[in-house]
Amino acid sequence: MASNNRVIVFGASGNVGQFVIPALHKAGVDITVVTRTESKTASSYDFARTATTDYASQSDLVSIIRGHASVISLLSAGVLELQRSIIDAAVEAGATLFIPSEFGHDTTNEDVSRLLPVFGAKAGIIEYLREKEKDGLSWTGIITALFFDWGLPLGAFGIDFKAHKATVWDGGDTLFSAANMDDIAASVVSLVTDASARERYKNQHVYVSSVQTTQNEILAAAEAYVGKKFALTMFDSGEVYAAASPQILPVLQALQLSKRGLSDYQARIDAGHNRFIIDAKRDVRNVVNRVLEGNQL
Ligand SMILES: NC(=O)c1ccc[n+]([C@@H]2O[C@H](COP(=O)([O-])OP(=O)(O)OC[C@H]3O[C@@H](n4cnc5c(N)ncnc54)[C@H](OP(=O)(O)O)[C@@H]3O)[C@@H](O)[C@H]2O)c1
Repeated sequence: MASNNRVIVFGASGNVGQFVIPALHKAGVDITVVTRTESKTASSYDFARTATTDYASQSDLVSIIRGHASVISLLSAGVLELQRSIIDAAVEAGATLFIPSEFGHDTTNEDVSRLLPVFGAKAGIIEYLREKEKDGLSWTGIITALFFDWGLPLGAFGIDFKAHKATVWDGGDTLFSAANMDDIAASVVSLVTDASARERYKNQHVYVSSVQTTQNEILAAAEAYVGKKFALTMFDSGEVYAAASPQILPVLQALQLSKRGLSDYQARIDAGHNRFIIDAKRDVRNVVNRVLEGNQL
């Protein structure tokens, strides 16, 4: 029987891993990070055990996972199918919790999941995990919408803080949830370290929300911080949904910002869908100020 405090993480050196791994360490979790044998991106965490794999040998994966109760996948969106081999190996190695690489828009909502192949791939992994529940491997999928403090300086929310410009979607008043990296990391820590949370959220999706806000509210916070009005371009989301072969970034933004309200998780909860694991209700101005200050914008 694996010790509950031992966790193995695949794809630990990526964008999400850089927040999740230190948070697990701070919580006293015994961590093994797995990287590709040929990885060029792997960063080292000197407090963690390390293992390598080429994902080709199932017996290798089983022996790497053996002894760990929880398996976390933070693999890149382009290689989600690798998770099937990891899941098979996790079952064989006797692991009891699998956290798949979700961390994005709500793949349980069909209005979302049919829009991009990556959502279909994530939903397929959940179907696969459901088949393994009978083998003693439980799972929890973490839905975050667009990463808030991570995505703001990258323009994910339609605002160019450097050029003091914004593209305002459908008038900018659509309410949505978005998650900060620390809150996402805290949700993982909670599932790994808190047996009651693990049981409560077993075999289902959960939402992480740091803020419930609108594009106009973010814009007002940025303008107050900078002390000037931004130049605005009005944009109708219909263009994105009508495109014959939609581009990934505009679809991700439409799911967040458009008037369809597909990232309003409070509304989903009220309608009896998934549950919040974290609903932090942070002050939007504080987050925007921190991000702008931290990025010298
Ligand atoms: N909601 C949002 O705003 C948002 C933003 C970003 C990501 N996400 C989601 O978060 C999850 C993790 O994404 P991320 O951005 O953290 O991932 P990432 O940084 O692109 O990559 C994570 C890890 O995947 C492994 N990897 C990459 N290519 C691989 C390959 N060909 N074969 C095997 N392993 C490979 C690498 O691990 P090694 O080099 O150590 O082997 C890498 O460090 C995804 O589900 C993604 O969709 C969401």
